[in-house]
Amino acid sequence: MEELRRIIPGASFTLLAAGEVFLMNCALEQAEALEAVHREEPIFLRHIQPVDRTMDIDGSATDLQGLADMIRNARLSFEEKRTAVHIRRNAHTSFHYSASDTKALLDAVLEELGAEPVVQGPEIIISIYAAGDKLYVGFGTPKEMLSDWPGGAIRFQREEGQVSRAKFKLLEAEIAFGLRYADYRHALDVGAAPGGWTSLLLERGLRVTAIDPAEMHPSLLVSPVLTHIKRNAAEAKLPKEAFDLLVCDMSWSPMLMSKLVLDLRSSLAPGATAVVTVKLMHRKPMQTIREVKERLGTAFIVLKAKQLFHNREEITLYLRSKE
Ligand SMILES: C[S@@+](CC[C@H](N)C(=O)[O-])C[C@H]1O[C@@H](n2cnc3c(N)ncnc32)[C@H](O)[C@@H]1O
Repeated sequence: MEELRRIIPGASFTLLAAGEVFLMNCALEQAEALEAVHREEPIFLRHIQPVDRTMDIDGSATDLQGLADMIRNARLSFEEKRTAVHIRRNAHTSFHYSASDTKALLDAVLEELGAEPVVQGPEIIISIYAAGDKLYVGFGTPKEMLSDWPGGAIRFQREEGQVSRAKFKLLEAEIAFGLRYADYRHALDVGAAPGGWTSLLLERGLRVTAIDPAEMHPSLLVSPVLTHIKRNAAEAKLPKEAFDLLVCDMSWSPMLMSKLVLDLRSSLAPGATAVVTVKLMHRKPMQTIREVKERLGTAFIVLKAKQLFHNREEITLYLRSKE
């Protein structure tokens, strides 16, 4: 909310789900507000749903029929468009239908309208949020909504033998920042143990040098393209300009992490990419982020800062080493 207030003066907010979902009102036209959000994408905003229609509900059978009629009469062309229906709700809604029942009915309406109902890769999303005695309904592209996952909550399947849940953070960063790890050759993974991030980079076909005084998961050590430097990263001796990708997930003081990453810079090729998590341990997250961006900005271009769905008390930075 603080970030939105800065880019949309006069914006006011009503909480729909504490700490998670809020309704924003502002004097701007919808298109202008969306443009402002995209121009300076807020770090902590994962998803934005325009509210094109609001519908009163009373917990009866007419709610679902009313919603179907609203979509039927939306006067939007869904013809031949891959269209996804996202349904979310807060804890205090009188909308009793399950997401799957609602989706089944709306998918049938979409087929009537000539659309192709899809779950993945939509061109248009119909986003429905049920709160109290209202349904908030919005239409938009995944780009406008910042994500094609309901509420930006991207979920990955847990795999058998997965080394750590941390792997999901690096997977999500690949999608969120439009990266392709397979395009890189040699990664430096700082604070690598037990090795979730390393395992993903190995799967993508990279050579990996992992630095961590802690043990790496035994399943990784058989890899002929993994080198584990078992020490503090500040003491590691690394070849010059050897790595085209640096990843760092140290869960450490943001300022010490920044110093360490800056000290490792000579081992990076010019223009190398970096993906770094920043722990927000203090009460002033925006100030911490500003300071880290300033420090790292001396050697890196900060391409994006985002709190990913899989980040908890942290954000992820996407950086490029200056030439
Ligand atoms: C959150 S864990 C990393 C999880 C890892 N990304 C994964 O996917 O499994 C943080 C790691 O950073 C390591 N670490 C903290 N300070 C470090 C330093 N100065 N040098 C190297 N590793 C460090 C810790 O030993 C710990 O294993």
